[in-house]
Amino acid sequence: MSDREKRMVVLHGPNLDLLGERPVEHYGTITLATLERLVAREAQRWGWTCLCLQTNHEGTYIEYLHEYRREDALLVNPGAWTHYSYAIRDALELVDCPVAEVHLSDISSREDWRRHSVISSVVNFTVCGKGPEGYLEAVRRVIELAEAL
Ligand code: DQA
Repeated sequence: MSDREKRMVVLHGPNLDLLGERPVEHYGTITLATLERLVAREAQRWGWTCLCLQTNHEGTYIEYLHEYRREDALLVNPGAWTHYSYAIRDALELVDCPVAEVHLSDISSREDWRRHSVISSVVNFTVCGKGPEGYLEAVRRVIELAEAL
């Protein structure tokens, strides 16, 4: 492994910019800015840097996946696109690094339409229902995978 500082890109999808205002029972009170700070701090503990991006536009999200497909690792929370965007699924298939899928809420115990993730089969692992702590777990696990390559 080289000594170059490794970088993780964290991609948040629609409505996650309004974390802190969304239903507390699913998302808690954390804002996106605070969540991103926690994620970046965890990555730094392992000597990694972090680039955090959020968009409400599916095409932009896909272009981020193209642009960052050769990063050292990705952490994605595509919000509601998780449940139906085959375009995001196809873009994830082209990613050439370990990918963690993370959801703050437990999508498996919510509405029927939310229970299925169309991206789970093309990522390395999924963490959901653990709130911000789940992000930190995902950061550690995806770093472990990337460093084992
Ligand atoms: C989410 C779960 C999705 O179902 C929802 O549409 C979101 C957030 C989560 O983090 O729990 O926007 O991805």
